[in-house]
Formats: sequence, C-alpha cells, structure tokens
Amino acid sequence: MTNWVEVCAADEIDEEDVIRFDHEGRTFAVYRSPDDQFFATDGLCTHEKIHLADGLVMDDIIECPKHNGRFSYKTGEAKGAPVCVNLKTYAVKVEAGSVFISLA
Ligand code: FES
Repeated sequence: MTNWVEVCAADEIDEEDVIRFDHEGRTFAVYRSPDDQFFATDGLCTHEKIHLADGLVMDDIIECPKHNGRFSYKTGEAKGAPVCVNLKTYAVKVEAGSVFISLA
C-alpha cells in the first residue's frame, strides 16, 4: 500500500538543493533538480552514514560532504569512490504546492 507522507511546501526547497526530512525514526533526503523536479532518497550515505542533506547538489548528482562520494539522486546509483552501494529512492509527488514522498 502506498503511504504518501507530506514533507514540506515545494517552495521550501530551492532548485538544485536538498533538504533533510526525518519521519518515524528514519531520515530521508529530498531534492529539487535544476529543471524543477523533485526526488527523494535515503538520507544517509551508504559509506559511513553521513547526512546527504549536508552535501552538494550538482545537476543530477548528490555529493556526500564527508569523502565526496557521489550518487545519482534520481536513480540512487553510486557514481564514484568511495561509495559502492546504491541509495534507495522513493517516489515523490507535488500536490497543492506541497511535496509528498511515498513510503511503502
Ligand atoms: S561517508 Fe559518504 S562518502 Fe564517505
């Protein structure tokens, strides 16, 4: 069953930026791409559990702030050493100006 959870107002995330979202003991990263689409992944780097929301968004890449590992935030794919385990991604929708992520 799809469980849509409200994150924030869409305009609270700048283009080419990321925010941290904590929900029921889990942490997520929610992104707004340069072309104004929204994406969500697990919030912690798969290398050493650092918050990715403190990292840098560049095009469709999130760069981890600790060792500069890179992931595609659109697919979760690990893109550069030292990360080699992909991130889990979540469906996102925008409705009535708010961002929701799907937690199955
Ligand atoms: S903790 Fe993210 S690359 Fe090492």
